Amino acid sequence: KEIIGVIGAMDEEIKALLNAMEDVQEQERYRVTYYSGKLCDTPVVLCKSGVGKVNAAVCTQTLIDYFQVDAVLFTGVAGALHPDLDIGDIVVSTACQQHDIDASPVGFPRGTVPFQDVSIFPADEQLVAWAVEAGHSISGVKVLTGKVLSGDQFISDAGKVRELREQFDGACVEMEGAAVAHVCHLADVPYVVIRSMSDRADHTADVNFAEFTELASERSASMIQAILRLR
Ligand code: ADE
Repeated sequence: KEIIGVIGAMDEEIKALLNAMEDVQEQERYRVTYYSGKLCDTPVVLCKSGVGKVNAAVCTQTLIDYFQVDAVLFTGVAGALHPDLDIGDIVVSTACQQHDIDASPVGFPRGTVPFQDVSIFPADEQLVAWAVEAGHSISGVKVLTGKVLSGDQFISDAGKVRELREQFDGACVEMEGAAVAHVCHLADVPYVVIRSMSDRADHTADVNFAEFTELASERSASMIQAILRLR
């Protein structure tokens, strides 16, 4: 049976899933604890990657190489970029891109990895479809599909929000998704990123992030469980 890897960056983002898991076994790799067991009758390996692209990449590679997962789901919170998104609403990634990679002084477009064929990493279409369907089963929550932007920066500036929308057409911004997507692209493993909005990435972002991360994390975790029940 297929094994699903599930990653969150922070304690809040994996807490509900860890509580819902059965037959849990722990194993440590590269200073991260991996929890193997069952979630919604599906074999899963869950971990808290830590924040940022490098941590997310190491966990994704470890899930693929060591735990032999067949797909990777990322769950967590993000800053909203799309004007239709309210706090708590969900973004399902159709693709991910690193917004902070920039070799433009030597002629490469911002947000692209020099000399690499792909820089906008598409999510798995079936996983996206299940995620959208899962979203409809959670009432009162808006679910948008769109591009998830990732960078090693917490965004809290309306000007930067405008720039990220205009340059990259991002639906939301966070700090891990594109690293997961990049590794999954290289390894040819399907992935999807699910993010619930904790803030609007503007001058209110720090306060909103502190207030709404718990709620948004639980929303995103519910999405993961709903996706596992669908497949
Ligand atoms: N995760 C949640 N909110 C974020 C923001 N505003 N910027 C980067 N990552 C985030």
